[in-house]
Amino acid sequence: MSTIKTAVVGLGMGRFHIKGYLNHPSADVAAVVDLDESRFGEIKELVPGVRTYTDYREMLRAEKPDLVSVAVPNFLHEEVTCAALDAGANVLCEKPMSLNVESALRMRDKAESSGKRLYINFSQRFSEFARTARGLVDEGRLGDIYHAYCQWTRRDGIPRFGGWFGQKKMSGGGPLIDLGVHRLDFVLWLMGGVKPVTVSGTTHHRLGSALGKAQGKAFDVEDLASGFIRTDNGASILFEVSWTGFQVRKEQQALRLLGEKGSIEGGPGLHGDYTLHYCHDIAGHAFNSILVQPGRDTTSYEALIESLVTGKPYLSSAEDGIRLQIVLDCLYESARLGREVVVEEFVGKALQYL
Ligand SMILES: NC(=O)c1ccc[n+]([C@@H]2O[C@H](COP(=O)([O-])OP(=O)(O)OC[C@H]3O[C@@H](n4cnc5c(N)ncnc54)[C@H](O)[C@@H]3O)[C@@H](O)[C@H]2O)c1
Repeated sequence: MSTIKTAVVGLGMGRFHIKGYLNHPSADVAAVVDLDESRFGEIKELVPGVRTYTDYREMLRAEKPDLVSVAVPNFLHEEVTCAALDAGANVLCEKPMSLNVESALRMRDKAESSGKRLYINFSQRFSEFARTARGLVDEGRLGDIYHAYCQWTRRDGIPRFGGWFGQKKMSGGGPLIDLGVHRLDFVLWLMGGVKPVTVSGTTHHRLGSALGKAQGKAFDVEDLASGFIRTDNGASILFEVSWTGFQVRKEQQALRLLGEKGSIEGGPGLHGDYTLHYCHDIAGHAFNSILVQPGRDTTSYEALIESLVTGKPYLSSAEDGIRLQIVLDCLYESARLGREVVVEEFVGKALQYL
C-alpha cells in the first residue's frame, strides 16, 4: 500500500483530522499550518518530526502533499482549498463548504480544472449511528420516508464568543451554517435522493446580540434558527438549531425519520453513546432499541485514506457540499425576506447539484 502524505491547515478542528489520519497505516502527517504558533506544541508531541508552517502557501510549495485538510475559519475555505488543489493535492475541506453557493461552485470548478478531488467533511455520516440508521433505510425497513425532524440546540454554546464564528463576514452565519449544516446534511442523506423544492427559515439573535453588547464583543449572526423544507416527493423536514437559548439541557440533539413501514428516532445518551430506536408496528407498539456504542466509529479521515488507497467510494463529495450550501442560502434568504423561498427560483445555475 502506498503512503498518503497529508498536511493539515488550521489546528482547532484540524487536530481531529490529524488523529484520524494517524489511525490509518497508509497515511502520514508530514506538515501542519497555523497562524497561531502556540498550537504547534501539542501537535509536535502527537506527531514527532512534523514540520510546522505559519504560511500555507509556503507549506504547499515545500511539501507537495497528496492530501490537504482545510480546517480554517469558513471565510478561508475557498482560498486555501483552491491553493491546495492548484498545488496538486486532493482536499478534505471542513463543513460548511464555504460562505455561499457562488463560492462553493468556484471551489468545485477549481477541483475539476485541476484534476484533483475535493471532499467536504460531513463527519456525522461516518458514525456507527449513521451507518446503522442508513442500513435500516437501505434495507427498506422504513419504506417511503415522508417526514423528518432534526434538532441541535444548546443552552449556552456560542463557539469562541467574540471571535470569527459570530461574525457573518467570516462565518457566513450562526448555528444554521455551523450546526444546521450537519443535521440537514444527515437527514437529506438518510432520505436518499430527495430534492428540496421550497424552504422557509427563521433566524433570531436576541440573546447573542444582547451578550455582545454587554461584553463589547462582535456578534452579528443568528443565535437560533428554525425551518421547514418541502421536497420533490412531497416529504417534509422540520428543524431547529441554536447556540444559546433558555432550555433545560445544556445540549440537545434529536432526529426522527418517519416512513410508511417504520421510523427511526435517535439522539446522544449520557455517556457519549447513541440510542437508535426503530419503531415498526404501530398497532402492537413494537420497537427495537439499538444501542450504538461509542468508539467503534471509523472516522471520516480514516475512511478517506482508505478510499484514496483502495479506490473504494467515499461517502461525501463537493456536490454534497454545494447541495447543502444551496439549502442554507435559501433558508437565510427566506429568513431575510420573511417568507417561503422556491429553491429553483433562487439558485439559478447551481440547480443541477440539488
Ligand atoms: N466537522 C465538524 O464536526 C466540525 C467541528 C468543529 C469545527 N468545524 C469546522 O472547522 C473549521 C475550523 O473551526 P475550528 O472550530 O477549528 O476554529 P478555530 O478558530 O478553533 O481554529 C481555526 C484555526 O485556524 C487558524 N487559522 C486562521 N487563519 C489561518 C490561516 N490563514 N492559515 C493557517 N491557519 C489559520 C487559527 O489560528 C486557528 O488555530 C470551521 O470551518 C468549522 O466549521 C467542523
